[in-house]
Amino acid sequence: KPPEAPSRIGITLETYILEGMLGFPAATGAFTSLLNQFGLVAKLVTSKVRRAGLANVLGYTGQTNVQGEVVQKLDEVANETLLSVLGRRGHCAAVVSEELGEMRLLCTDPRAKYIVVVDPLDGSSNIDVNISIGTIFGVLRKSDAKMGADPSDFLRPGRDLVAAGYVLYGSSTLLVITTGLGGVHGFTYDPTVGEFFLSHENIRIPERGSTYSINEGHSARWPESVRRWNAWIKEDSKHEGRPYGARYVGSLVADAHRTLLKGGIFAYPADRGGQGKLRLLYEANPFAFIFEAAGGKASTGAERILDRVPRSLHERVPLVLGSPRDVEDFEQFVRGEG
Ligand code: AHG
Ligand code: MN
Ligand code: MN
Ligand code: MN
Repeated sequence: KPPEAPSRIGITLETYILEGMLGFPAATGAFTSLLNQFGLVAKLVTSKVRRAGLANVLGYTGQTNVQGEVVQKLDEVANETLLSVLGRRGHCAAVVSEELGEMRLLCTDPRAKYIVVVDPLDGSSNIDVNISIGTIFGVLRKSDAKMGADPSDFLRPGRDLVAAGYVLYGSSTLLVITTGLGGVHGFTYDPTVGEFFLSHENIRIPERGSTYSINEGHSARWPESVRRWNAWIKEDSKHEGRPYGARYVGSLVADAHRTLLKGGIFAYPADRGGQGKLRLLYEANPFAFIFEAAGGKASTGAERILDRVPRSLHERVPLVLGSPRDVEDFEQFVRGEG
């Protein structure tokens, strides 16, 4: 019997990054160190999330953010945690966050080569009812190494990302990360050890799935083509002889993660005249980057998300994520061929 291959369990997030198994070129150490900082952010936020009811982080702060949303205490705690961790080691020059109206400069030293986009707490409406929530992040290289970061640095298409990931505070805390080059990998947090261990190596999305994920309560506001797709997916779509099932958590991180692992389609379409609810820089782009790295597709319904050039930091975009075949079906309806 050939010797057992060494177990892949027991590899920590730190080891996986330090040993370059995320596939990026031998780093100067700054990129490695920056990626490891997201592991620390996830540990700090997860400790607050797991005790939310006890640590007085439920409920509202009484403020509203640049999105016009009421800010939950955990939104703010997660945002402050990320800013303080990324502000420490001098690799991150600036951050654009859902919870900050303007770009936050963190380090003007030219050696700070990266900028970060973040949705510190995604799915805030689910915090107080103990349903899965998440954190979403993306890393870009600062365009002009010599200067401090500038807001225009963030107005680049998502294809320029050098890393993206998310943390899902679900039945367990899972951190999924990719550099786009070396596959998409998931690490599960073991609170008894205080480490993230490799649990989902090289996640690949199925070519086609059997669930669709969309908030049908908004259907009156969708374009006609999306209403036609929705009717088709419910009645006439067939996958292994059965129509698709419906799954909707209302946290992008939870709905997207389920779609990534099991296949199928998630959509938050444009509403009449608007661009929908999800934000391009720190929700759509990081997930589009991750889905494409896992063999999936990410589209506005009409164009590839990663090609969309942002015009403002908090601009919204219709988002369709999923198995390539399922996203192509959706796009056919939008083109009027469905
Ligand atoms: P956030 O909590 O970061 O503002 O994001 C909430 C988003 C996203 O998590 C989810 O997909 C969407 O809101 C759900 O919106 P609806 O309640 O309109 O379906
Ligand atoms: Mn919000
Ligand atoms: Mn969000
Ligand atoms: Mn948020």
